[in-house]
Amino acid sequence: MKHVLIIGGNRGLGLAWTKYYLAEGYKVTATYHDRDNSQAIFDIKSKKLNVLECDVTNEMNITALADKVKDADYIIYNAGTKGYKVPFTTPDKITPQEREFAMKVNCYGVDSVMRTFLPIMLTRKNGVFVYMSSGVSSTLDNASGGYHPYRMSKAAGNSAVRNMDIFVTQTWLKNGNLASERPVLFALSPGLVDTGMGAGVGGAMPVKQALEEMDKVIENVGKSKDSHGLWSHNNTKIENYVEPNVLKVPSQPILPAYQESVKKLLHCQSKPSIHSMVLRTRLR
Ligand SMILES: NC(=O)c1ccc[n+]([C@@H]2O[C@H](COP(=O)([O-])OP(=O)(O)OC[C@H]3O[C@@H](n4cnc5c(N)ncnc54)[C@H](OP(=O)(O)O)[C@@H]3O)[C@@H](O)[C@H]2O)c1
Repeated sequence: MKHVLIIGGNRGLGLAWTKYYLAEGYKVTATYHDRDNSQAIFDIKSKKLNVLECDVTNEMNITALADKVKDADYIIYNAGTKGYKVPFTTPDKITPQEREFAMKVNCYGVDSVMRTFLPIMLTRKNGVFVYMSSGVSSTLDNASGGYHPYRMSKAAGNSAVRNMDIFVTQTWLKNGNLASERPVLFALSPGLVDTGMGAGVGGAMPVKQALEEMDKVIENVGKSKDSHGLWSHNNTKIENYVEPNVLKVPSQPILPAYQESVKKLLHCQSKPSIHSMVLRTRLR
């Protein structure tokens, strides 16, 4: 049975994810932060559900969570905050406190979770880490402005996730594992959904549709290993990233004997080719 950890699983989209994966037969660990907002998750009666407390702005909470959840196949970082009180808040109206709070939840929080769960992720073949991002995190796609702290902090969150995806891939291969089984970390925009942040907004998608679409993207990225982009719920990329250098060489694990012979060969070359330079990087 697959195990899903949903960070921020007590209400809104996170609560919907919890119910969705339970209905799919998964074991689910869902976290809450504010007990007053969390009765709905405690009302779910299921032996497959474990509910734990975690404030993503608190490193000790995150460490305690990682100590309790060592076998998650999927981790969904759903926790998020708008970081502003008035919609369409422009850059000149934001207080440093609002900006800092958005960064703490939407960027530093996901970074801390990834760093703390790194040893666990490196043991999970085909593991998937999803950062619940937003279409407005895309600078490429920003034609209207507004949402200042939200945009900044989600864009920074995307960047942290991308960097960690590359680091996990490098470490995974260095440890002699197959690229075809590597864990993937990526950012996914749910679109405008009729929950918490998007509730009541004209044109917001029904929750069921958003979850079914995103589930397909998660399956697709988990299998294809195409974590090289900011993904949208509709299975297209909002932003396309370059493929990491480390994946541009054969994906088989490098056996020690092969490693030695390649090192000798590279040592004899006076003018290294591009390919040999990539191999040198991989052998380090
Ligand atoms: N709904 C949309 O249309 C939409 C669109 C684009 C992106 N998103 C993204 O999707 C995610 C869920 O959105 P939503 O609409 O469901 O929002 P929501 O109803 O406001 O839910 C926010 C979630 O984040 C958690 N959270 C906030 N601060 C936290 C902290 N310090 N530590 C741990 N958890 C914390 C909340 O838990 P507590 O209640 O315990 O604080 C809650 O579970 C967010 O990341 C959001 O940016 C949503």
